[in-house]
Amino acid sequence: MVPNRVAHEDVDRLEKDKIDKRRVKEKDSDDLKVVESVFDKVTVLTIDKLIRKGIIKNLVGIVSSGKEANVYLAKDSNDVDLAIKIFRTQSEFRKYAMPYIEGDHRFRIKRKDARSITYLWTLKEFKNLKLAETCDVRVPSPIDVRNNVLVMEFIGGIGGVPAPRMKDIPPEDPEKIFHTIIEYVSRLYHKAKLVHADLSEYNVLMHKNMPVFIDLAQGVLLDHPHSKKFLFRDIRTIVNFFNKLGLTTSNPKEIFNKITKED
Ligand SMILES: Nc1ncnc2c1ncn2[C@@H]1O[C@H](COP(=O)(O)OP(=O)(O)OP(=O)(O)O)[C@@H](O)[C@H]1O
Ligand SMILES: [Mg+2]
Repeated sequence: MVPNRVAHEDVDRLEKDKIDKRRVKEKDSDDLKVVESVFDKVTVLTIDKLIRKGIIKNLVGIVSSGKEANVYLAKDSNDVDLAIKIFRTQSEFRKYAMPYIEGDHRFRIKRKDARSITYLWTLKEFKNLKLAETCDVRVPSPIDVRNNVLVMEFIGGIGGVPAPRMKDIPPEDPEKIFHTIIEYVSRLYHKAKLVHADLSEYNVLMHKNMPVFIDLAQGVLLDHPHSKKFLFRDIRTIVNFFNKLGLTTSNPKEIFNKITKED
């Protein structure tokens, strides 16, 4: 089969299966929201390109459909599962993303249109995943990035079943998982000089009884003007979650001080 056609056929099939119709109604925690498809022309061409480069073989199905991005299960040429995160290029998103991009010296903002900002955002998640991986924080291993499409390791089991979010399956051993998460936050801070900035039970997957950090696009380097504020917010969110599970943790301020004052 001509690789080019594979992407189109896959996309067509996904669309036909009503997995990701032009306007999909999806249940988003409390309310129903109308979500635009991610498959605009440029995105289809981008997926074509990734297939022609041999990075992905085909798209299999949808894992998650959200406001900012859809995540798909795909296969590589050896039939290994991959996760493909496709960001929407939408104008409202710019206002949200800008504070996390401005102040990050890794990115030179040449254009501020929705598409350019979305591409920078996708690249930012890729770079943050790379940084996290190099300092032994468990994240999906990043594989490739092109425009608004991020290819990464699929976190899940056989048959393409994604690992549950920590929110959905609270950890069996909360104390151990809490300490691992704080250790990851500390490693990110000290070794990668990075703050996740959107850390919560929604952005931690539980895989083989261990936490995996996902959704790193918001992550900022320590020289970002609000990095400390984001670090405190991350710690407070995680502490609140574990307190609700009945764990008595140190208070967020103590953990914050300990992390920021360590060498
Ligand atoms: N590498 C991965 N392997 C398996 N599942 C994944 C992976 N990355 C993301 N997911 C699934 O997709 C969901 C959404 O991913 P993520 O949190 O990165 O997107 P998001 O930016 O929160 O999107 P939105 O805010 O639009 O919902 C996750 O909750 C998880 O279920
Ligand atoms: Mg998320």
